[in-house]
Amino acid sequence: MKILVTGGAGYIGSHTCVELLNENYDVVVLDNLSNSSEESLFRVKNITGKSLEFYKADLLNKKQILAVFSEHKIDGVIHFAGLKAVGESVSIPLKYFHNNITGTLNLLAVMNDFNVKNIVFSSSATVYGDPASLPIKEEFPLSATNPYGRTKLMIEEILQDLYHSDKNWNIALLRYFNPMGAHKSGEIGEDPCGIPNNLMPYISQVAIGLLPQVSVFGNDYDTPDGTGVRDFIHVVDLALGHIKTLPKLFTNPGLVIYNLGTGIGYSVLEIIKGFEAASNKKIPYKIVDRRPGDIAACWADPTKAKEELGWKANKTLADMCKDTWNWQKNNPNGYGESL
Ligand code: NAD
Ligand code: WQD
Repeated sequence: MKILVTGGAGYIGSHTCVELLNENYDVVVLDNLSNSSEESLFRVKNITGKSLEFYKADLLNKKQILAVFSEHKIDGVIHFAGLKAVGESVSIPLKYFHNNITGTLNLLAVMNDFNVKNIVFSSSATVYGDPASLPIKEEFPLSATNPYGRTKLMIEEILQDLYHSDKNWNIALLRYFNPMGAHKSGEIGEDPCGIPNNLMPYISQVAIGLLPQVSVFGNDYDTPDGTGVRDFIHVVDLALGHIKTLPKLFTNPGLVIYNLGTGIGYSVLEIIKGFEAASNKKIPYKIVDRRPGDIAACWADPTKAKEELGWKANKTLADMCKDTWNWQKNNPNGYGESL
């Protein structure tokens, strides 16, 4: 079974490639390396002792997608490729709409032409906006609070319309909560460009001495310690969620939607404490104003994925912190020069 992984050199994509190869799938990666390095794929090969095919190609270039489908008989696609920085999407929305939506439309058109109609799409908990209650179930109302989130919502809607037009499509919308952690080998992990936007890479860069302190965005939320609460999920658990989704996709389920989260919410201060314990380092922090657009709390009800996919997140907060630290201390500059 041959799987095309768009965005496979990125953070979640590279971890998913490891698990795909471990399960003996043939893997073809398409990535333009706009937010990643080919080094991650060399390391995927080291970890697994298996090879994959890599195309440095852009979803905005339809000819490059066509080349991949002409050269391989693809059975299904896991579509990670996209831009994901929320703040940047507010400043340059057109770039986000063009890259994420046009890129997806090009991919779907080529898949349609080659009669490859099985796709797993990386959606996000951001499509729930500011939820009215917790935990979040798949049928909760959807909304977008920024252009990045709108691209996820629009792509979900495009995929719904596509499925309604042609029931031969099998589409899994996977709504990820907050991924963190790294492969236990410490060979692959999250390697953000510039100053991290997300909490975990920021904390680990403080721990390694690249940044002076964490700014905690608000301690006056209606949460137990006043700081934001999120459903942090280990990236390997998330990758395994894709492995459990593929067999489901090949049973012709039509369009299916799953939350991939742990069902547990941790606060920003709990994450900082967890990281201090794992790294044996003091993490200096200061409380600053809330970050515009942030919600107080968000965690998943992951029951549907457990019942229908037989998937559940198994790793703990301690695992997430330990594995992030292992990656960060072995790779203080991430993938280094090659990015
Ligand atoms: P990432 O930036 O590490 O990986 C995305 C990959 O896509 C990168 O390797 C990038 O080079 C590639 N890419 C971007 N545009 C492309 C294009 N036009 N053509 C070819 N390749 C392109 O991000 P990630 O954290 O691994 O996220 C993967 C997916 O999951 C994204 O779609 C993201 O929106 C979604 N997601 C991420 C999170 C998160 O917090 N990391 C949460 C929910 C959903
Ligand atoms: C987590 C908590 C912050 C940084 C984002 C996207 C979402 C999804 C996952 C892709 C919040 C606090 C953070 C810092 C802090 N991505 N924080 N200081 O905002 O939940 O989700 O990534 O789909 O769409 O919005 O994640 O890691 O940025 O923040 O206090 O330096 O940490 O306020 O409470 P978020 P995050």
